[in-house]
Amino acid sequence: MEITPSILTADFCRLGETLEEASAAGINWFHMDVMDGNWVVNRTITFGPALIRSARQHLGNDAFIDCHLMITNAEETWDQYVDAGVDMVIAHIEAVDDFPALIANLHGAGVQVGCVLNPATPVDGVMDLLPDLDLVLVMSVVPGKGGQSFMPEVEGKARAFRSAIDAQIADGGRVTKIMIDGGVKNHNAALVADWGIDIAVVGSGLINDRYTITENLEAIRTALKT
Ligand code: DX5
Ligand code: ZN
Repeated sequence: MEITPSILTADFCRLGETLEEASAAGINWFHMDVMDGNWVVNRTITFGPALIRSARQHLGNDAFIDCHLMITNAEETWDQYVDAGVDMVIAHIEAVDDFPALIANLHGAGVQVGCVLNPATPVDGVMDLLPDLDLVLVMSVVPGKGGQSFMPEVEGKARAFRSAIDAQIADGGRVTKIMIDGGVKNHNAALVADWGIDIAVVGSGLINDRYTITENLEAIRTALKT
């Protein structure tokens, strides 16, 4: 299972150093949490395309960058993230009216597409889109801030996506990846790997005041081996 950092707990004045430290520790996929002050329940504002563009320039073209859009108007603003240099746009099924059109627009622009669903959202609407999705993101917290407690009750949804995607791949279809986001740390990394998750977002468990990114990542990798 691959680990990707959420940078919400980073010191943004030192973001370049944090990204370099993560790269040096072997991380190649970076997860950018965009909140617009409207869509998430606690009205948080994080950052937008300008910061993502800076991260792209700092990391170079070899890094893989996704943006997790927790915003009301992804259908109107997706191109700003494409222009900022992301490799993948992940939009919420609950926040988009015409998801097939968004997929077509993003694929037409040469960018991968992910669809994310909240803990309370059933899998059905996302399952219908699976053949065209590059990634499904299962939220294991209610989006809004880092450092929340993991919700193990999303296991059934993660496993349902795993089965459906395995069947899709066996039929020669798209190799859709499954990501999980929220509350993942070294104590539950092996659990979500067992559910069939390909990529885990780790925020406060990776970027914190207690240990370095390298030390935190090592603890997660050790937990995954045991
Ligand atoms: C939740 C965000 C996250 C989250 C991850 O609203 O999408 O990516 O901040 O942070 P931790 O790992 O601290 O839950
Ligand atoms: Zn996220």
